[in-house]
Amino acid sequence: MGSRVLLLLVALFAIVSSIALASDPSSLQDFCVAASNSPVLVNGIVCKDPKMVGAQDFFFSGLQKPGNTSNALGSSVTPVGVTQIPGLNTLGISLARIDYAPWGINPPHTHPRASEILTVIEGSLEVGFVTSNPDNRLITKILHKGDVFVFPVGLIHYQKNVAHGNTIAIAALSSQNAGVITIANAVFGSKPDIPIDILARAFQLDKTVVANLQSKLISALMGCRVLLLLVALFAIVSSIALASDPSSLQDFCVAASNSPVLVNGFVCKDPKMVGVQDFFFSGLQKLGNTSNALGSRVTPVGVTQIPGLNTLGISLARIDYAPRGINPPHTHPRASEILTVIEGSLEVGFVTSNPDNRLITKILHKGDVFVFPVGLIHYQRNVAYGNTIAIAALSSQNAGVITIANAVFGSKPDIPVDILAKAFQLDKTVVGNLLSKF
Ligand SMILES: *[C@@H]1O[C@H](CO)[C@@H](O)[C@H](O)[C@H]1NC(C)=O
Ligand SMILES: *[C@@H]1O[C@H](CO)[C@@H](O)[C@H](O)[C@H]1NC(C)=O
Repeated sequence: MGSRVLLLLVALFAIVSSIALASDPSSLQDFCVAASNSPVLVNGIVCKDPKMVGAQDFFFSGLQKPGNTSNALGSSVTPVGVTQIPGLNTLGISLARIDYAPWGINPPHTHPRASEILTVIEGSLEVGFVTSNPDNRLITKILHKGDVFVFPVGLIHYQKNVAHGNTIAIAALSSQNAGVITIANAVFGSKPDIPIDILARAFQLDKTVVANLQSKLISALMGCRVLLLLVALFAIVSSIALASDPSSLQDFCVAASNSPVLVNGFVCKDPKMVGVQDFFFSGLQKLGNTSNALGSRVTPVGVTQIPGLNTLGISLARIDYAPRGINPPHTHPRASEILTVIEGSLEVGFVTSNPDNRLITKILHKGDVFVFPVGLIHYQRNVAYGNTIAIAALSSQNAGVITIANAVFGSKPDIPVDILAKAFQLDKTVVGNLLSKF
């Protein structure tokens, strides 16, 4: 009888928690750097021999370069996914730079495997997404420099440059290989064509208009189709073995943070009461106050700042570093991190787990991108003469931070001195001194 009640409770809890939480990625080892030349096919890509792995596997250079927007759309996406950074394999996160010429658009599209969180670095954007059937509500917003916006997984969304000059955005995606389905191309440029009468009815257009659309997309987007095919093929390959990217069970589950009900994550707000403000944050253009002992400041944009991030498995942060400022050794228990330098230069490093504990370091300059695999201890240090600014994306709505020094030497109550002295091979008086400092 007792065990049956327990089973029932476990089953109920499973239902509740699977409703409330999208699974953040879960790696089975420190990293699994893509060995893209392997003939073996798995979900994602086979791992390279860890002994052969180096800083270059977690690194990409060139995100400071403007994309070429001389095309029909007036926009250009520079992706930084597992193709560009083999170390992203199995980590469930990636980054992109998007350039928009004046009036340029990123046309309506979806990412089948990723939520997206985007920040405007320069200029202004109109952004929007459409909820699923039956409501299909369009939620739009004008974003300025420093604003942040969220596009929930799988929903159709777009951006349009509304500045007089160029606009630049950095977008993070909660998948190593988010996939793109550009609606116009997929619908009107498929091979073979979707029958005209079906499209005419679906879009409530005259058949001659549909035929016209199809012929335009066939000639103009031939290259795009090949790309789509490749994306689809890659999607099949990667859906077999990828680390679990978040999987939402509905369009969104905006955090109702004042609910008395406790679940994993947050209870959802009534979807009818959800508005654009639930997916929006303003202020990431503001300099963080680095007048502190570390000379650095993290401005987080997680589920606390954007309730709409609940269950989406992704968040963003701005990090400011004064000259010689550091972000001290820490881990994120629930997230991998992908970081790009907006201004200045950073020394970055992470340490592999036991028994090797290998330190992998790199100097990053403006436009460089680096990855910190989930749970590994990592740090950054400003090596520029002036201030440095970075934007970091994390593969969790609530990545958590464990600052090693504070957790080890500043716990409440203290970890016994003899344990720390032995662990760090330090004299007990030195340890006592350290404990008093934190
Ligand atoms: C940008 O793309 C256009 C069209 O493909 C091309 O003609 C032009 O040379 C490119 N510009 C640069 C700077 O690469
Ligand atoms: C920055 O922080 C320091 C120390 O907390 C404080 O004295 C100072 O007023 C702050 N500066 C600004 C601009 O908020």
